[in-house]
Amino acid sequence: MATTQQRCDRAPAWAQLQSYFETAGRQFDLRHAFVEDAGRFARFSQEAPHVFADLSKNLLDVRVEEMLLKLATECGLEAHRDAMFAGEHVNNTEDRAVLHTLLRAPAGAASNRTAGELQEVHATLDAMLAYAEQVRGDHTITDVVNIGIGGSDLGPQMAVLALAEFTAPGKRFHFVSNVDGHELAGVLRDLAPEHTLFLIASKTFTTAETMANALSAKRWYEQSGGTDIAGHFAALTTNVEAAKQFGIDTTFGFWDWVGGRYSLWSAIGLPIALAIGADGFRRLLAGAHAMDEHFRTAPLAQNLPVRLGLLDVWYRNFHRFTSRGIAPYHSALKRLPAYLQQLEMESNGKQVDASGAALPPGLGTSPVLWGEPGTNGQHAYFQMLHQGTDVIPLEFVAVRDAAHDLEGHHPKLLANALAQAQALMVGKLDAGGHKNFPGNRPSTFFVLEKLTPESLGAFLAMYEHRVFTSGALWGINSFDQWGVELGKVLAKDIEPRLATGDITGLDASTAGLLERLKR
Ligand code: F6P
Repeated sequence: MATTQQRCDRAPAWAQLQSYFETAGRQFDLRHAFVEDAGRFARFSQEAPHVFADLSKNLLDVRVEEMLLKLATECGLEAHRDAMFAGEHVNNTEDRAVLHTLLRAPAGAASNRTAGELQEVHATLDAMLAYAEQVRGDHTITDVVNIGIGGSDLGPQMAVLALAEFTAPGKRFHFVSNVDGHELAGVLRDLAPEHTLFLIASKTFTTAETMANALSAKRWYEQSGGTDIAGHFAALTTNVEAAKQFGIDTTFGFWDWVGGRYSLWSAIGLPIALAIGADGFRRLLAGAHAMDEHFRTAPLAQNLPVRLGLLDVWYRNFHRFTSRGIAPYHSALKRLPAYLQQLEMESNGKQVDASGAALPPGLGTSPVLWGEPGTNGQHAYFQMLHQGTDVIPLEFVAVRDAAHDLEGHHPKLLANALAQAQALMVGKLDAGGHKNFPGNRPSTFFVLEKLTPESLGAFLAMYEHRVFTSGALWGINSFDQWGVELGKVLAKDIEPRLATGDITGLDASTAGLLERLKR
């Protein structure tokens, strides 16, 4: 385990939290808490750059927060955070630094140790943004197709949609991630090679799905009469050599210290820059940097990502909640839950600590994250959130100012968000039987004044640091993803069997299914 990290279940405050949970935490009632403490909203709200968070409708009191903050200190959270910012190899299983924060640092803001990297970051950023501006000015390119998966898809896709308001007209953006040929074929159907730019986005440039899609796109381009690969294909990758082998000369690189799910700030963000322009992309970075500075310098008790990460530990390990819902009340944030799923579940879905030792029973790590835009969810699964047998903390993301002028819509939307959070907490106990709501169901309510590149950047950086915080306390390495490997290896073995029908050595279920699926 990295020396700066100390597992939370071994820290003295852990036992105190456990006994407090048994005596007071389990029975905590939000309705009483608000009656007893007129200052609760202020006490449990937090201002951070571009983001306001109301944590007051969560199942926690001052005593719990104090103990959680003590736990964070005992676990060396600040030292671990500083080690990440300083470029130490906190990704110990891959022996890598974790420096996505450097991607949004202004020139000259790095320590001596990372100054060289920051210079490279800015040189690449300038080149990529110059290219983005050139393509934006090229009116023959009407369609941009990003081919990538996981972090090479979810971040850019989510952000391009979220910032559609800032996108200049004249270009359509398509995202192809799935190896399912229906997806690529569906996109290609409406494209003309001379008007299309393909971005092959892959940190490793080896990911099977992306390589299959990239090859098919290239074949389609050539078969449709295209001859200018250099003008119609660009690669976004750390593996410049492999891109070259593939036949792509226009490459924007990044570095092994940028994790896939933390990469939208790097060359992987090119679709975002194409959509919102160089200035817009710099504003996105600036918003994230402002949140980085907040996380790096604010005292733990007023540090939004820290308070959120500690709440996550409290819910996961004491209340034993296994899931968290995300309800963005803004249709442009439609892909936010999918993006956050990878960010949190791929980072913190671990069962061994950073030293490789099994975590003890009860030290649960990443919850399941899921969600849909708010009012849609209300007419689908909110029933279960209000009256089901499980308690699921919900996160509301509301934007104060609308980007449209359709009369009456925005107040209706915001009223729904407020009402749902209120209903979850207050409940209704006098209607009888089927109509009763237990209430006391926790939620966090985020407010952005406007959905802008800055506020989106800040919100996403907040989430990254929150995931860092809970991962640091759990003592896990939040920056590797070995759990994705086994399935990839097995798929390689199975693929030729679908043609040959060979079932030797397969378990009976896989063999039976293969028999059904083979042609
Ligand atoms: O699913 C595993 C993973 O490695 C993710 O972490 C990553 O974002 C994705 O695959 C895509 O990887 P690459 O950018 O190397 O194609």
